[in-house]
Amino acid sequence: MKHLIEPLDFTKEEYEEIFRLVDDIIANPNDYSHVCDNKLLASLFFEPSTRTRLSFETAMLRLGGRVIGFSDAGVSSSTKGETLLDTIRVIENYADICAMRHPKEGAALLASKTVTKMPIINAGDGGHFHPTQTLADLITIRHYKKSFDNLTIGLCGDLKFGRTIHSLVRALNRYENVKFVFISPDELKMPEPFKNFIDKENYTETTDLMSAIGDLDILYMSRVQKERFVSSDEYERLKDYYILTEEKLKYAKDDMYILHPLPRVNEIATEVDKDHRAVYFEQTKFGMYGRMALIMKLLEANK
Ligand code: CP
Repeated sequence: MKHLIEPLDFTKEEYEEIFRLVDDIIANPNDYSHVCDNKLLASLFFEPSTRTRLSFETAMLRLGGRVIGFSDAGVSSSTKGETLLDTIRVIENYADICAMRHPKEGAALLASKTVTKMPIINAGDGGHFHPTQTLADLITIRHYKKSFDNLTIGLCGDLKFGRTIHSLVRALNRYENVKFVFISPDELKMPEPFKNFIDKENYTETTDLMSAIGDLDILYMSRVQKERFVSSDEYERLKDYYILTEEKLKYAKDDMYILHPLPRVNEIATEVDKDHRAVYFEQTKFGMYGRMALIMKLLEANK
C-alpha cells in the first residue's frame, strides 16, 4: 500500500504531480467538489493541532467526502489502555484514509505496517517528521520562487525538535544546488541523523541569524517546541533566542520569503506580518490544497 509517513515516500515526480494537481484545484475548485463522494477520512489526533487537523478535514469536505475522528486522545479509548495498533485495526473498518498525529516517533510508520486497506498519512510523529507540512512548504516555495534549485534556505529556531524542519530539509535536499543554513542556539542544533544525509558542503551552521540573513532566499522560522522540553527553565532560557523584526529584515533580500509552519509564539514580531515577504498565512492555505491533492492521490494509488 502507498502511505505518506516521511517526505521521501514520494518521488520528486510524484511531488510534481501533486503540485500540478494543486494548481488545477486552485484554478477549478468546482471540478473537485465531488471526487471523494462516499469516502471517509479518519482524523486521529493524539496531540493538539489547529492547522493540520482542520486543513485535512476541510480538504476532505471540499472534495465531497466526510470525516470521522477525534482531536484529543483523552476522548478516545487509548485512555482505557487500548493500543494504537488496536485502534488503527478498528478504524480501518470504518474509514477509507487516515491522517494521524501522535507524540511517539515512528507511530505512523507502525500504523502503516498494521493496516491492510487504509492508507496512513503521518500528520506529525513526535519530533520526527511532518511530511504534509513539508507539502505546504514546498507548494509555497514553488509558488514564490518557481523552482527549488539553487536556493539558499535558512532554517532558524528549534532545529532539534522541529519535525517540520527535519522533513523539509529531507525533501529539499533532492533538488539541485540547494544550500542550507542551520541557525539555532547550540542546545537546539540540527541532530546528526538529520544532517548525515546532506553533503557537508551543502550546509553551514551558525547561532547568528544576522550573519546569514543577507544570503538567504527563504527564511524558515520555527517555534521552540515547549512540549518536547524536559526542563521548563531550559525552555524559558531559549524560547526568545530569535525574534524576527522589521529592523532585522532590512538586511534581507527583497525577495527573501519568510515561512513558518505556525503556530507562532514570539519568534516573529507581528509587525512583520505586513511585510510583502511574510507568506506564512498564505502557506496555511497552500497546505489545505496540498492535502486535497494528497488525499486524491493516495485514494487513487490504493484503489
Ligand atoms: N503546522 C502545524 O503542524 O500546525 P498545527 O500543530 O496547528 O497542526
